[in-house]
Amino acid sequence: MKFEKPAGNNPIDQLKVVGQPLNRIDGPLKTSGQAHYAYEWHNEAPDAAYGYVVGAPIAKGKITAIDVQAAQNAPGVLTVVTANNAGKLGKGDKNTARLLAEDTIEHYHQAVALVIAETFEQARAAASLVKVDYQREHGVYNLAQQKPEVTSSPEDTPDKAVGDFAAAFAASGVKLDAHYTTPDQSHTAMEPHASMATWQGDKLTVWTSNQMIDWCRTDLAATLNMPMEKIRIVSPYIGGGFGGKLFLRSDAVLAALGARAVQRPVKVMLPRPLIANNTTHRPATIQHIRIGTDQSGKIQAIAHESWSGNLPDGTPETAVQQTELLYAGANRFTGLRLATLDLPEGNAMRAPGEAPGLMALEIAIDEMAEKVGIDPIAFRILNDTQVDPAKPERPFSRRQLVECLNTGAERFGWSGRNAKPAMVKDGRWLVGMGVAAGFRNNMVTSSGARVHLDGKGIITVETDMTDIGTGSYTILAQTAAEMMGVPIERVVVRLGDSDFPVSAGSGGQWGANTSTSGVYAACVKLREAVASKLGFDAQRATFSEGQVHDGNQSATLAQAAAEAIITVEDTIEFGDLDEQYQQSTFAGHFIEVGVDVATGEVRVRRMLAVCAAGRILNPKTARSQVIGAMTMGLGGALMEELFVDDRLGYFVNHDMAGYEVPVHADIPQQEVIFLDDTDPISSPMKAKGVGELGLCGVSAAIANAIYNATGVRVRDYPVTLDKLL
Ligand code: MOS
Repeated sequence: MKFEKPAGNNPIDQLKVVGQPLNRIDGPLKTSGQAHYAYEWHNEAPDAAYGYVVGAPIAKGKITAIDVQAAQNAPGVLTVVTANNAGKLGKGDKNTARLLAEDTIEHYHQAVALVIAETFEQARAAASLVKVDYQREHGVYNLAQQKPEVTSSPEDTPDKAVGDFAAAFAASGVKLDAHYTTPDQSHTAMEPHASMATWQGDKLTVWTSNQMIDWCRTDLAATLNMPMEKIRIVSPYIGGGFGGKLFLRSDAVLAALGARAVQRPVKVMLPRPLIANNTTHRPATIQHIRIGTDQSGKIQAIAHESWSGNLPDGTPETAVQQTELLYAGANRFTGLRLATLDLPEGNAMRAPGEAPGLMALEIAIDEMAEKVGIDPIAFRILNDTQVDPAKPERPFSRRQLVECLNTGAERFGWSGRNAKPAMVKDGRWLVGMGVAAGFRNNMVTSSGARVHLDGKGIITVETDMTDIGTGSYTILAQTAAEMMGVPIERVVVRLGDSDFPVSAGSGGQWGANTSTSGVYAACVKLREAVASKLGFDAQRATFSEGQVHDGNQSATLAQAAAEAIITVEDTIEFGDLDEQYQQSTFAGHFIEVGVDVATGEVRVRRMLAVCAAGRILNPKTARSQVIGAMTMGLGGALMEELFVDDRLGYFVNHDMAGYEVPVHADIPQQEVIFLDDTDPISSPMKAKGVGELGLCGVSAAIANAIYNATGVRVRDYPVTLDKLL
């Protein structure tokens, strides 16, 4: 089905099941340990051997020799896989560095060997006996040092200019010209990267933890130089991804190579200390923002440039993209700068682009509001735009930023805020309030599904969509239930298997809107097939409570499939509505902090997010997404930072002892409000993404609250106490 024009009325709009705050249908399986994660398919492969990854201890150089003899002779060891015996490997196109190093080391902890043994402990012990000789080469690891040399955009992400920024900025009555930095960050998903592989002849099955089944399969086929059709990827439960599992990674490649080498199933998990450097991370940024307004506070000129680094052939962190769309202003300039660094591979982490971009932009807006002398909410509203500022003929499909800010201000008690910093004390705490706009684009991409109706009236949905803890199982079941007029208990959802139709997958907050649209499309076909089977008119037929009605006639769904299961399949394709309309999601983030007047310790006291993100398919799962994202935003504001050793070229704090993320004790009252924002342009579901929106802007709102509490403006994340004293 092609979605080409704004969605009219359709069965989803009944909202009998869709839009209800239903519990996650996978919840009981997960909380009782019955959901099998990638490393836990014991019944499928009771004889699985264990692989342990050896990571390179240098950041750049050559392998001159590998001696596996001692490891090979260690107790329980079956074999050691290296590039020397792995056969000729290709490379997928979603990653820059090789997932098993050949003679060149491209980054620290790049995999150089897999030791396979009867037990995990034996493999780990033997891994320390693999002797690799390296010839170290000079690498470049310091973004700030490289910055002066990088003055233009990469070819495929050119600078964007509207009007004449330089002249308008020079003529502006009020100006800001400031730099901001965000650090390298690690996804730190609860479940590590893990895979189990087994071969039957030339057919490969990989149970893994991956957000994008089709990308994983395509890149694995390219890496192993084999046809995609011979590979099956299974990933029905995933313990968090945050972008770190968008791509094929070394665990899956090495499990496949290992299983081929030992002719039995092999499991590979990346130990926590390997993850930060062996996998991907969110690249650090240095951002330069210039804003000029007239005396009334109207933006005349706005420029945003962002420097980030990556391996050769890597891409920049797109930290300026929200600045192209968030505020009005006739004269604009944005540009991405990319330094070549020999650090581990930079890639997507939750809300790539907007998350670090808003960390900078929304402090800058707070600073500007203060310079102009108006309230930061009023300043944002004054500079709102309902059209793409670069193409005024192109409106936003829906844009409720002003409503988010006004609703939040009222709810949070913003009128009680003292605009003058460092005026409010509560015992030893300086107390402040901060606000930021949230913005994240709503991407749409095709998504397929297959649905079956059986003789008991049960609907089974199959799609390779993943559930990374987001609630996909539940909203897909709600969609099928609504479309077919059955209670959710009559729907079975099967996900995360490359045997099922290719879905949009879980990334870029596009998963909920697009994968439910795929199920919608398949259910439209199923309704037609059922009507036809019953001899009803497909256009007139209505579906409710397990029944199908057409005028005076009615039958049960089960009757339609009494003789044979009815199976149909379809894919939702999106036309060019996303070119005609800018589709984005909006939020207002409100924060209250206390800052210890003596130690500089920051405690976040209250958090409120008001979100406008299209129809909310399930307020409970959506709220869980947003409160999780707000928690990540708190981590980004106050704690998260991979420390670069710019002598040896690696992230030093590569475990959860050194890389701090928020724990429950750090998280105060969190409140989430969803505005009624049904968007007929986005899809037949009229929904949008919300999981990444919940993060975008939160860290800046915290930094702004800290400024309001203390009068100290910190432009370098994380805002640790040493920066406040
Ligand atoms: Mo998201 S960074 O696209 O998983």
